Amino acid sequence: MIINMKDNYEIKIADYDEAIKYVPKNIADGINYGAVIIYYGYLNGEIISEGRAYLKPKGMASPDEDTLNDETACLSSFKTKEKYQNQGYFSRLYKFIIEDLKNRGIKYVSLGIDPNNERNMNMYSNWGFNEYIKSTVEDSENIDWYKKKI
Ligand SMILES: CC(C)(COP(=O)(O)OP(=O)(O)OC[C@H]1O[C@@H](n2cnc3c(N)ncnc32)[C@H](O)[C@@H]1OP(=O)(O)O)[C@@H](O)C(=O)NCCC(=O)NCCS
Repeated sequence: MIINMKDNYEIKIADYDEAIKYVPKNIADGINYGAVIIYYGYLNGEIISEGRAYLKPKGMASPDEDTLNDETACLSSFKTKEKYQNQGYFSRLYKFIIEDLKNRGIKYVSLGIDPNNERNMNMYSNWGFNEYIKSTVEDSENIDWYKKKI
């Protein structure tokens, strides 16, 4: 798997899988302002995994504005195309994201988890997301927020 970052050119030419290709305008604006980074995992030229990191400046559609600061980024939109799931691809992208954020001076990352999704809860707990921050409700779904030092 080759790992790459989305840039404005890729936003314009995006023509891959529906679940992964869509970049809402506010997120695209956030990329231009340096507030959002979208990371992609490629396999043989195909984008198969995605993850997003929200950084300062605030006000750019971060899912967790409260926790965002100079040292803390918010992670979201983790996806692997269904047929490639459970084969370790996202794990590799996740490690790349964390290394890249560290290199940018980020010391903590937060993310929101559906507490009923046992698989994801276990995965994030194993990755060290054990510091509970808060609970929110989005589109009638409960989300528990956790933070970890990177
Ligand atoms: C969550 C998701 C992105 C993971 O992608 P993936 O490519 O299937 O993940 P991987 O195969 O790389 O596995 C990631 C980690 O989960 C672990 N894992 C796999 N199945 C697990 C399970 N049942 N319980 C706990 N951990 C599990 C793996 O061991 C790996 O951990 P490691 O890095 O310590 O080795 C993917 O399943 C997905 O797109 N799900 C639907 C969307 C979603 O739920 N996104 C997250 C929203 S918060």
